[in-house]
Amino acid sequence: MFENKVCVVTGAGSGIGQATAIEFAERGAKLAILDRDQEGLKATSTMLAGKDRDTLSLTVDVNQASKVEAAFTRIDETFGRIDFVVANAGISGSPEDGLTADMPLETWHKIIGVNLNGAFYTAKFGLKQMLNSGDGGVIVFISSIMGQISNPGISPYVASKHAVVGLSKTIAAEYGAQNIRSLAVAPGFIETPMTDIITQDEAILGGVLAMTPMARTGKAQEVASFIATLCSEDASFVSGGYYPVDGGYLAT
Ligand SMILES: NC(=O)c1ccc[n+]([C@@H]2O[C@H](COP(=O)([O-])OP(=O)(O)OC[C@H]3O[C@@H](n4cnc5c(N)ncnc54)[C@H](O)[C@@H]3O)[C@@H](O)[C@H]2O)c1
Repeated sequence: MFENKVCVVTGAGSGIGQATAIEFAERGAKLAILDRDQEGLKATSTMLAGKDRDTLSLTVDVNQASKVEAAFTRIDETFGRIDFVVANAGISGSPEDGLTADMPLETWHKIIGVNLNGAFYTAKFGLKQMLNSGDGGVIVFISSIMGQISNPGISPYVASKHAVVGLSKTIAAEYGAQNIRSLAVAPGFIETPMTDIITQDEAILGGVLAMTPMARTGKAQEVASFIATLCSEDASFVSGGYYPVDGGYLAT
């Protein structure tokens, strides 16, 4: 389905990003996987090696614009085109960081730096190359259910996840005529290292499950397959929206 297509995934060394890279490879795409964690990238590369797809693995901190730009230059030199960009790299907040009046500036800048600035750099340099190829493409931002609602104590996370929805809508409006679609996918509670703190605490997990109509957490694979479907021709007129993958959480 994605034969001769090139997919870039940030934060591909773990969780949703790793599952997304594998999903796209299984559907025939070539992969450029980016992460700041070299070990995670190595693990994903090993999994991709079994899929027999061309893979470029780049250790990059998405919060460093010049490094992200250099990575996209490498991707262009390697593959000569980019079809899909999944801006997935992210870090979470912790309620222990404090309410907004007490939020340390350092924490604010760290989370906004990765989740918003990093997503912006990824989209900006990805778009440049999509526009050069003239074949269109799809940008997917991994937002969150926190892109629509809030939770006390994690204001930078909530703000960053709302912000990428606005960025995605703007890109959809700016580049629709070039056949570039832009989408925001909003995972609910998905089992990844990011949510270990929730899934390993029975009381917290119980609270989450009580608020989730499907009464379970999701798997990274369930987000990955939805991202791939949104990037496919099955969703060829889908752009600018916000798409929860949350077992019904936002419906209640
Ligand atoms: N797991 C969930 O329940 C959930 C829910 C909503 C949204 N999300 C979002 O999904 C995305 C993926 O999260 P996950 O659950 O797979 O988490 P994860 O911690 O398993 O994976 C995140 C990956 O991003 C990488 N990363 C972090 N900062 C980076 C940086 N500055 N530069 C490059 N790479 C960096 C990490 O090294 C890691 O490999 C995040 O944006 C997260 O906010 C996750």
